[in-house]
Amino acid sequence: FIGCCGLPQRQDTTKSVVVKSWTIGIINRVVQLLIITYFIGWVFVHEKAYQIRDTAIESSVMTKVKGFGLYNNRVMDVAEYVTPSQGASVFCIITKFITTENQVQGYCPEVRPLALTLPLALCCLPPICSLCLPTGRCVHFNDTLNTCEIRGWCPAEIDYIKTHPMMEVENFTIFIKNSIRFPLFNFTKGNFLPTITPQYIKACNFDHENNTYCPIFRVGDVIRYAHQNFTTLAQKGGVIGIKIGWMCDLDQSEDECNPSYSFTRLDAMSEKNSVSPGYNFRYAKYYKMDNGTDYRTLLKAYAIRFDVLVNGNVSDFNLCVRTCLWLGTVLCDIILLNFLKGAEQYKAKKFEEVKFEARHQPCLL
Ligand SMILES: *[C@@H]1O[C@H](CO)[C@@H](O)[C@H](O)[C@H]1NC(C)=O
Ligand SMILES: *[C@@H]1O[C@H](CO)[C@@H](O)[C@H](O)[C@H]1NC(C)=O
Ligand SMILES: *[C@@H]1O[C@H](CO)[C@@H](O)[C@H](O)[C@H]1NC(C)=O
Ligand SMILES: *[C@@H]1O[C@H](CO)[C@@H](O)[C@H](O)[C@H]1NC(C)=O
Ligand SMILES: *[C@@H]1O[C@H](CO)[C@@H](O)[C@H](O)[C@H]1NC(C)=O
Ligand SMILES: *[C@@H]1O[C@H](CO)[C@@H](O)[C@H](O)[C@H]1NC(C)=O
Ligand SMILES: *[C@@H]1O[C@H](CO)[C@@H](O)[C@H](O)[C@H]1NC(C)=O
Repeated sequence: FIGCCGLPQRQDTTKSVVVKSWTIGIINRVVQLLIITYFIGWVFVHEKAYQIRDTAIESSVMTKVKGFGLYNNRVMDVAEYVTPSQGASVFCIITKFITTENQVQGYCPEVRPLALTLPLALCCLPPICSLCLPTGRCVHFNDTLNTCEIRGWCPAEIDYIKTHPMMEVENFTIFIKNSIRFPLFNFTKGNFLPTITPQYIKACNFDHENNTYCPIFRVGDVIRYAHQNFTTLAQKGGVIGIKIGWMCDLDQSEDECNPSYSFTRLDAMSEKNSVSPGYNFRYAKYYKMDNGTDYRTLLKAYAIRFDVLVNGNVSDFNLCVRTCLWLGTVLCDIILLNFLKGAEQYKAKKFEEVKFEARHQPCLL
């Protein structure tokens, strides 16, 4: 009540006046009934608009893979089989490599699987020999076959050889840290629930029954939950989606706003398609010889790519509903104050002015 330096300020307070009038009572109830009918019929049943919903989710995902694998008698660690290494929401675990070592720039015979080798007469016609930069020459490949000569990184990669995938990938674990925010409600939460203790997190693995909030996932389980066969997937590569869903209702307690995890194969198309099955990519490691010539190791990697997708929505009771129900009362007040007999009398009772002596208080500034 006390304004700055003792100046009195006007302050409105709510005051309830009970008016005993049938007319007003009936009008009030009828208006409220209409509004309630409108809300139940239209807003609640038809539009389901009694809640406001925020679907714009802001999210950050950090991932970390753990485990050691054995491939071609070499122990592989995370730095070797996970790419990119930044721990983003999209990452690949390489299950199989085709390595071509010591490639240098030069001329060499092109390599094709037997089914694609050419009769001698066809060899070296430009449309056929156009995969790399063909020189147009036919060269001796082995005792029975000729192929095109190419100019490029030599020796050429032989990518149809059979190799076995690294089976230990099945036991690798993926750790996922996810924070979300709903900007409309300024509501923030993470997938580490308060019930998770450091001891628990050291030992747990996610499953759908007993560890539904454990943020550590065994690769084999993820693939099983996505209804895939690990052996096939590791052989050909593929893309698996780990979906984190946040469906929150802020009418209820915040503790009930929890993540739910689901798993699916995202590249379902390449599963059925025989032209380009699976997922693979190439990259190279470059070195320099003493005399300055570049040479490289070319790797064709078959990988399981994981995409962590976060979605969700949060809803809260719509404030408009409360406001509108209250409108009934306001409408009655307007009628009372202006259009009915005895309005003046009612006005005087409703807005009673109370005068305070403005005492001069010492200014606190
Ligand atoms: C020539 O190469 C093809 C394809 O790699 C192979 O199948 C065939 O056995 C080879 N022939 C000889 C005689 O080495
Ligand atoms: C994965 O772990 C289980 C138990 O820890 C073990 O029995 C299995 O052999 C492991 N799989 C591979 C491919 O190493
Ligand atoms: C959002 O909430 C945090 C605390 O939970 C608060 O520090 C921040 O100021 C809020 N931001 C807005 C825009 O209200
Ligand atoms: C969950 O716990 C119950 C009882 O301890 C056990 O029977 C069940 O096999 C567990 N489920 C999983 C998926 O581990
Ligand atoms: C996965 O596929 C391989 C061959 O494609 C098969 O031998 C194996 O039994 C399958 N595993 C499961 C669990 O279905
Ligand atoms: C929001 O969540 C509810 C479940 O709580 C779901 O039925 C609805 O489809 C979701 N809406 C959007 C836009 O994701
Ligand atoms: C560099 O050395 C390699 C082998 O040691 C040789 O094949 C190559 O021709 C040399 N390059 C140059 C530019 O001398």
